[in-house]
Amino acid sequence: ALSNYVELLNYAKEHKITIGAFNALNLEILQALVSAASRKDAPIIVQTYHKHVDFAGADYMRAIAEVASTHSKVKIAMGLDHGRSYEQAKLCIDAGYSGVMIDLASEDYDYNVKETCRVVEAAHARGISVEAELGTISDADRTPEEIALGYTDPEIARRFVKDTGIDCLAVSIGTAHGVYKYTPKINFDLLKELIDTVSCPIVVHGGSGTPDEDVTEMVRMGIAKLNVGTDFFIAYNEALYAFYKEHGARCDIADALETARTAVEKVAEQRLDILTQFRV
Ligand code: 13P
Ligand code: ZN
Ligand code: NA
Repeated sequence: ALSNYVELLNYAKEHKITIGAFNALNLEILQALVSAASRKDAPIIVQTYHKHVDFAGADYMRAIAEVASTHSKVKIAMGLDHGRSYEQAKLCIDAGYSGVMIDLASEDYDYNVKETCRVVEAAHARGISVEAELGTISDADRTPEEIALGYTDPEIARRFVKDTGIDCLAVSIGTAHGVYKYTPKINFDLLKELIDTVSCPIVVHGGSGTPDEDVTEMVRMGIAKLNVGTDFFIAYNEALYAFYKEHGARCDIADALETARTAVEKVAEQRLDILTQFRV
């Protein structure tokens, strides 16, 4: 069965690891992530980006995650990533996801609180966890200075968590979504302040391309969850692209997908090594 975020976040705290929250949108990527987790003995959250819920269907993704969890030695949670409305979060709650993110960070504070509270009420009634976001997590084509404009304010974050009762909070501290155009600048002082000020676990997004030393420092400081997506999708595409270039379109399709799955698994294993390096 699937686990909820709270079980995994408690495990992370107890064992001084960071939970990998890895994006999947199909069977092969999900299998790759779960087998990497099993091999590294590291519980993970598999999550579907809001667009990928539309693409694959929440019920399909939840079903394969459920099957994967029965094959896995470690706990697996299944989450909605950057849910864009109460309705979408509700769809995933009803599909049996174990966690949902509601991302209304671009809306005004009161609206964000009001809608996030509706999600929390619906989710918690079923033992499902909720993540929300404050500040702006930019796209990775922005300069560090532009990214810094969206930093999360610790005092507002503290109030937001109290006002909503969410289980974890995504913050803006210098990482960004996608492939970085410039080397990211992580504001570790701000991260420290957020960890000390906010009463729930802290989540960092935009893990792809964030230098290993920076991730190591964030893990050491105690971030609860790191989101990674793009790195897996690139590994998947590159493996398929190379395979088709070599073997053409009349190849065995399972052989092609096998190379993609293996490539994703390797990247996931590397990430999990970093996220679990201080394990006790
Ligand atoms: P990356 O694609 O940069 O890894 O970001 C993933 C993410 O934050 C998903 O919510
Ligand atoms: Zn994100
Ligand atoms: Na990134």
